[in-house]
Amino acid sequence: MSVRAIVRYPAEILRTVTEPVQSFDEQLKALIQDLWDTMYEAQGVGLAANQIGRRERVCVLHPRREGEEEHPPLVLVNPVILSGSGEIRWEEGCLSIPGFSAEVVRYHTVEIEACTPEGERREYRLSGFPAVVAQHEIDHLEGILFVDRLSWTKRQLFEREFGKDPYRKRLPTLRPGRARLGVQRRG
Ligand code: CO
Repeated sequence: MSVRAIVRYPAEILRTVTEPVQSFDEQLKALIQDLWDTMYEAQGVGLAANQIGRRERVCVLHPRREGEEEHPPLVLVNPVILSGSGEIRWEEGCLSIPGFSAEVVRYHTVEIEACTPEGERREYRLSGFPAVVAQHEIDHLEGILFVDRLSWTKRQLFEREFGKDPYRKRLPTLRPGRARLGVQRRG
C-alpha cells in the first residue's frame, strides 16, 4: 500500500460529490489502506477519498489530541448524517489547505449511518472533537470545504491569501450540517 499525494485547494476534485461504494472488495480495502497511510504520514486526524484523487464515498478518521482520550480509528463507507444536535466551535484546518485554520461552527453531537469496509451497516454517535472531524470529512465527500463555512469576511481574507476557487459551490446556509440534513439515505 502507499502514501498518496494529497490534492490541494482549489483542485476540482475537492468539489466532486463522491459516489457511493457498490462493491466491498479488495479494491476498496486497498483504497482504505492508502487513506490510512496517507493520513498518518501527513499527521492528520481524517482524510476523504477525493483528497487523494478518488471518487468513492469513503473517509477515515482517527481523532486524537494531546491530553485527551483518543477515539479509535474509524472507516466510514457511504456515510450519511442522520441527525445533529447542539453546537460546537472548533479551530479547523485541512490537509488540502495547508497553512490555514479558522473557527467553524458544527453540531456538537451527530448520529451517522455508514457501512464498514465489509459492507455491514452501522450507526455511530459521535460528540465533541470526533463529531467535528466526522462532519469535516463527510463535507469533503459532498464537495464541501471548511472554508465554505466561514463568514463572508473571513472568506475574503482566506481568498486573498489562497486565491479564489473557480469550482466553489454555493451553500444554502452558513449553518453547518443543517443544510445537509435532508440528504437522502444511500444504500
Ligand atoms: Co479536510
